[in-house]
Amino acid sequence: MGRTILITGASSGIGAALARHLAAAGDTVGLVARREDRLAGVLADCTPHAPDSAMWVADVGEADAAERVVAAAWAQWGGIDVLVNNAAIPGVRPVTRVTAAEVERVMDVNFHAPVRFALAALPRMLERGSGTIMNVSSLGGRLGIPRESAYCASKFALCGWTEAVALDLWNSPIRVKLVIPGAVDTEIWDKPDEEGAAYDGPKVPAEDVAAEMAAALDDDGVEYYIPDMKGVAVFKTQDIATYMQGSMDLIGS
Ligand SMILES: NC(=O)c1ccc[n+]([C@@H]2O[C@H](COP(=O)([O-])OP(=O)(O)OC[C@H]3O[C@@H](n4cnc5c(N)ncnc54)[C@H](OP(=O)(O)O)[C@@H]3O)[C@@H](O)[C@H]2O)c1
Repeated sequence: MGRTILITGASSGIGAALARHLAAAGDTVGLVARREDRLAGVLADCTPHAPDSAMWVADVGEADAAERVVAAAWAQWGGIDVLVNNAAIPGVRPVTRVTAAEVERVMDVNFHAPVRFALAALPRMLERGSGTIMNVSSLGGRLGIPRESAYCASKFALCGWTEAVALDLWNSPIRVKLVIPGAVDTEIWDKPDEEGAAYDGPKVPAEDVAAEMAAALDDDGVEYYIPDMKGVAVFKTQDIATYMQGSMDLIGS
């Protein structure tokens, strides 16, 4: 315990739940997102347990955000033990209506931002001789989902990047982890300007996912399906035609 943990997308949902969970256990947390009021609310829950916790208001989709935030956190704490790349936007729109600009924005926030944060933190972590990078992808990073071409593209990219980065750093002191959530009950499902997601089934609480992510920081694993939906990804890989027909049957098309 007593680590310094920088979490992007900590103003709501899984990121906020993770920050509260880790702070309650004694870790110092750094909260990153755009909504200052929401970050301040999460920070107020964390500082009674972890007084050196801090927040940085930033749009992670902007090119200079990662270096600015990582440098500030590193200077304030003297190091970052864990970077959690969790911020993301959904971008739910069928390919017949999505624009290239929308896809680029989803890629910037969901993929290029984790890349930039990792590349900002990695040299510092390597020089210090320790560090963990945890990337939050999605089951949509293993499966194509109707109406979510932009989101799936960004999350597939994040899975591929994370697996390859983990191999590059296999013999280094840096640990790399990939989280693949299933359906979680957060605001991501109800964003304005989004068309409705195809999925309408059960969702697990963000607090349960946060608890499993916190536990994952203490073991040697690389990949974590939370909740455990790995069987769906395995089935799709084995029989993509049946998977695709099943997906279309599910949404009634
Ligand atoms: N909920 C699910 O069912 C589910 C399933 C699979 C994967 N995931 C993944 O879990 C992660 C957390 O999502 P969530 O479900 O907790 O959704 P959420 O409640 O909407 O949280 C998303 C977080 O990302 C932040 N964010 C979005 N765009 C940002 C930007 N440009 N710059 C900085 N921060 C930004 C949001 O803060 P601001 O709006 O304040 O910036 C918020 O804190 C995401 O990577 C998501 O893809 C979720």
